[in-house]
Amino acid sequence: MSIKRIGIITSGGDCGGLNAVIKGVARKAYDMGIESVVIPNGYAGLYNLIDMDNVVILNAERVSKIEASLAGSEAGHSRVKISKIDDPNKYDRIKNGLKKFNIDGLIISGGDDTGSVVVDLSEQGIPCVHVPKTMDLDLQPYSVGGDSAINRIAIFTRDLKTTGMSHNRIIIMEVFGRYVGHTAFRGGVGAEADCILLPEVPVDFDIVYEHMKKTYFDRIDRSDVKAGTYVIVVAEGVSNASGEMLYDESAGIDAFGHKKLAGAGKYVRQQIEKRLKADPEVEAFMTRTGMFVPGIYAIPEAREVTPGHLVRSGHSSAYDVNFGHKAGAGAVILLTEGKVGNTVTGVEGKTVLYMATSEAIKRREVDIEELALFESLGICFGRKPVAFKPELREEHRAIDRAM
Ligand code: F6P
Repeated sequence: MSIKRIGIITSGGDCGGLNAVIKGVARKAYDMGIESVVIPNGYAGLYNLIDMDNVVILNAERVSKIEASLAGSEAGHSRVKISKIDDPNKYDRIKNGLKKFNIDGLIISGGDDTGSVVVDLSEQGIPCVHVPKTMDLDLQPYSVGGDSAINRIAIFTRDLKTTGMSHNRIIIMEVFGRYVGHTAFRGGVGAEADCILLPEVPVDFDIVYEHMKKTYFDRIDRSDVKAGTYVIVVAEGVSNASGEMLYDESAGIDAFGHKKLAGAGKYVRQQIEKRLKADPEVEAFMTRTGMFVPGIYAIPEAREVTPGHLVRSGHSSAYDVNFGHKAGAGAVILLTEGKVGNTVTGVEGKTVLYMATSEAIKRREVDIEELALFESLGICFGRKPVAFKPELREEHRAIDRAM
């Protein structure tokens, strides 16, 4: 396939590592004598390309102005699904826009919805390669943005312990992740959270309460200054034991048509407070630890914190900058080799790895077998702990298995 000019699109929710993807594409393209340009604002920009006067060419000077370690995307984002646009001529409009700017192929970085458009555009004869991106980590391969989100969740959660300890509060940290709990899980473990609630495990709040009571009461009882906190990380897509999702219905839907998830942290707090109020042992605990003040301070405080978009913002982890560069460069190689409709999954040595985008976007959930290991280390996942029954396997080569 003769590719002289590549259009770069980033789409869906922004996250860490995307600027490294853009630089990886631009620099590899430059190395191969190919020009790369930004198609701004995700698929909205692709649809409206025909009306634009110019596109930004990522020559060496322009690329050097992009800071790879900054999260977010120099190319901009939108949550627009081409198939949903009510215009019977939308694909011709897109093709004409690409023709206008002599763009021969697209490299598109995004998550499952974005990937489904890659499949759609490929079927329409538009050459595209997909770079996996989502802080949710719910694609089959690793996706840029995941490691940055995990690190930020871990930092925010860990930092909250100082205020939690000062006020003896139960801290509930609600984090993004949509319908999977990868980042809540890894970020929670990274911060040594006491309890981690994931969409993959319906939550039994009586079990959470009992774990909290034992851990938190013991901690304060044992402290010489009677200080302690208990930290819960809850993924936004969590459900209760009856299988009901705990989000606030009034949050609405986004442009991809997904329910906006919010409110799980508040729900968890209410469940904890309800049980604290009803528990006859709480007053004795408050009294023996010197906290009880009648009518003012009868039960420990529980507070939810929702960092929301902060988790996707700021700086990218070094891992994501590495992965982004490699995946961006790998995508250019795949595109020039005609491997369109595929997702680059990594570069190992000199091998560029890829899989069909239709496969790559299938949802990957947390492997709940692994939770039992962490339960044996003391973490509560809102269920009765399961015994960890290990199996052994000898490996014969080193694997870069960060996630
Ligand atoms: O898909 C990434 C994600 O960060 C989800 O975890 C979260 O539910 C959603 O995006 C929030 O999106 P928005 O930026 O549209 O509010």
